[in-house]
Amino acid sequence: MLEIAVLGAGHWGPNLIRSFNDERRSNVRWIVDTNPQRLEAAASRFPAVMVTSDPHRVFTDECVDAVVIATPTASHAELVRAALKAGKHVMVEKPLSHDSKSSAELIKLAEEKNLVLLVGHIFLYNPAVQWVKRVLESGDLGRTYYIASSRTNLGPIRGDVSAAWDLASQDIAIFNYWMGSEPISVSAVGQAWLNEGIPDAVFATMRYPGNTLANLHVSWLNPDKVRQITVVAANKMLTYDDMSSNEPIRLYDKKVTDLKGEEFIDTFAGFRSVVHTGDITIPPVRMGEPLQTECAQFIDCIESGSAPLSGGPEGLAVVRVLEAMDRSMAEMGREVKL
Ligand SMILES: NC(=O)c1ccc[n+]([C@@H]2O[C@H](COP(=O)([O-])OP(=O)(O)OC[C@H]3O[C@@H](n4cnc5c(N)ncnc54)[C@H](O)[C@@H]3O)[C@@H](O)[C@H]2O)c1
Repeated sequence: MLEIAVLGAGHWGPNLIRSFNDERRSNVRWIVDTNPQRLEAAASRFPAVMVTSDPHRVFTDECVDAVVIATPTASHAELVRAALKAGKHVMVEKPLSHDSKSSAELIKLAEEKNLVLLVGHIFLYNPAVQWVKRVLESGDLGRTYYIASSRTNLGPIRGDVSAAWDLASQDIAIFNYWMGSEPISVSAVGQAWLNEGIPDAVFATMRYPGNTLANLHVSWLNPDKVRQITVVAANKMLTYDDMSSNEPIRLYDKKVTDLKGEEFIDTFAGFRSVVHTGDITIPPVRMGEPLQTECAQFIDCIESGSAPLSGGPEGLAVVRVLEAMDRSMAEMGREVKL
């Protein structure tokens, strides 16, 4: 049985506590939070778990095998470093840390200590995201032209990191996973209205190898909750709607077939002759709780020594794009090379 300490019992931490307690191979031994109210709330919700406001108490507890970190981004690097130095496996919420320098150091430290470092890019454990990965790899869609994503809602508004570091970190992780590579460049614009210096909405475009573009819109200042990604490829197209729990994917048998070299196509019949519109299908995607899968993978990796789907290198790749987005935003959307 793996003994786990969860650091951070704010909005997200309790989900991790529940998941690791539900896992038959792990037990949550400690909950740590520096905020007395949050600690008290956690203690009454999880009465069987020990609580403390001092992270070092769990780093020095020899019974603790692994530390799960769900604290604000600015604290990740210091806490991950301390946990690894104490010989604990680490699962840290996204993003891995506040900059690529510290992220790279954490990867090196985990390697040196032979410890698992998993970054909570939860969407990589989503069955629909994995289904799209498989169909892209199968070649059935043909060359990917572009991906367009919207991740919006009214709130939750963060006061510590921008909508890019909070929300776009999810999209970048998905894009990198689907493309099997990192972007070559990024250009982004964003604006802070509610809190000075913390953009509430960001519009960004990444260029991947092979001239694939990936565009994202993230915002916590939007009237409706949207979690939608469209993939446009040469042979087929698809949409993935994370708000649809039982039919998240629609596969469109649609493509442009032949432009015939004509300069103008100004009749409907002419237009019809250059596009192919076949069936729209809804592939069955097995259900599954991504957080449970992510936590199970963390334990699998500790037991087997294998690398996680969202390990340190994948986390660093996301942080590198986020940094480039910040640079681009500071320069009014200039294309920044990675
Ligand atoms: N995977 C997801 O879908 C998802 C969803 C929400 C949040 N998150 C991530 O989880 C992390 C936390 O987000 P949140 O929304 O729960 O934030 P939050 O602010 O609600 O909670 C953070 C908690 O950490 C505590 N804390 C701060 N510094 C600490 C320290 N040094 N030691 C111990 N406790 C400390 C705070 O008191 C607070 O209770 C972030 O990295 C965020 O990106 C992930």
